[in-house]
Amino acid sequence: MPLLALETTCDETAAAIIAPSRQVLSSVVASQDALHARWRGVVPEIASRAHVERIIPVIDEAVQKAGIKKRELKAVAVAVQPGLVGSLLVGLSAAKAIAGVFNLPLVGYDHIAAHLYACRLAFGDRLSYPAVGLVASGGHTSLFRLDGPLTLQRLGGTIDDAVGEAFDKAASLLGLGYPGGPQIERLAATGNPRAYRFPRPLANDRTRLDLSFSGLKTALRYQIRPPGSTTERSLPTQDRADLAASFQHAAVEAIIAKVDLALTQTGCRVVAVGGGVTANKQLRAALENLGKKRRITMLIPPFEFCTDNAAMGAIAWEHLEQDAPVDLTLDVLPGTDRGRHAERLKHHDASRRSPPPRH
Ligand code: KG4
Ligand code: ZN
Repeated sequence: MPLLALETTCDETAAAIIAPSRQVLSSVVASQDALHARWRGVVPEIASRAHVERIIPVIDEAVQKAGIKKRELKAVAVAVQPGLVGSLLVGLSAAKAIAGVFNLPLVGYDHIAAHLYACRLAFGDRLSYPAVGLVASGGHTSLFRLDGPLTLQRLGGTIDDAVGEAFDKAASLLGLGYPGGPQIERLAATGNPRAYRFPRPLANDRTRLDLSFSGLKTALRYQIRPPGSTTERSLPTQDRADLAASFQHAAVEAIIAKVDLALTQTGCRVVAVGGGVTANKQLRAALENLGKKRRITMLIPPFEFCTDNAAMGAIAWEHLEQDAPVDLTLDVLPGTDRGRHAERLKHHDASRRSPPPRH
């Protein structure tokens, strides 16, 4: 019997049906990109309201595509952290309603751990532990040591903007649409990545696994609107393409330097990556090269598993198999404080109750 997984941490409303074998029977993602495009970024209130409108049709579509009935579900799983609080609450409320009505166990899972678990879906046992995990998305840019699907230790990451956020802001500066990553990638395809030498703060610091992207964004901004100027330069198309390519190149190099350092520091022979920015072809190629150079296993999921989706909620099977919490008092945790989450799960474990019998 499969489980239903929900994902509403940010601006995608997603539901998936996943068998115990981790086979994804259906995966539906309703993107809100069009709603946020005119603001060139996610507007939390708009996101929450759109989730409310879409969550039930998205769940129904996932159930229908999987060819099952809701009463055949084994459990309901929902991403409860980290994310936008209003968005998270919509997913959790829907999950609780379904769990309550059908007397199903409810499982809360971590969105970041789920991004990395997408590698398990795509590559099966090739994701072995310990491994280095890289999550590069609109909200996060972090490196982890993974000792199991649910055991993540953060080694470092951005000290300011997430890399996806920097891509989105760069796109906005260049007058491109939202989400910015794919637009920058498209414009960069005809540009020279070495035309501008953009900064890669912290990239050469071999003592820490931290990254910074705000200086890169500011450097791009100064190329478009020089310091002290109130107007933007009108740039020929080739210059714009060169700026996009040089920006992308700097971001990719900074990330690669830290993945390389994480491999050295941990001695791991496997890297699992996830998050929307890992859909970027230059980053994927650079990661592949690093994997070959270091003769390690580099796991990069297919595009549909990189950006937000609920198929990666398959990680909930790991929770269920480890006899994880079953409790309708489950709450969301918008921040990234994994320690607190672990504490909370322990608490839930202690207060666990068996679900009432199914009728
Ligand atoms: O993982 P995701 O879908 O949502 C979050 O959890 O944040 O990531 C979305 C981010 C956005 O910032 C978007 O611009 C970026 O991923 N992104 C890309 C590409 N596709 C999506 N960045 C660079 N290149 C891409 N091809
Ligand atoms: Zn994400």
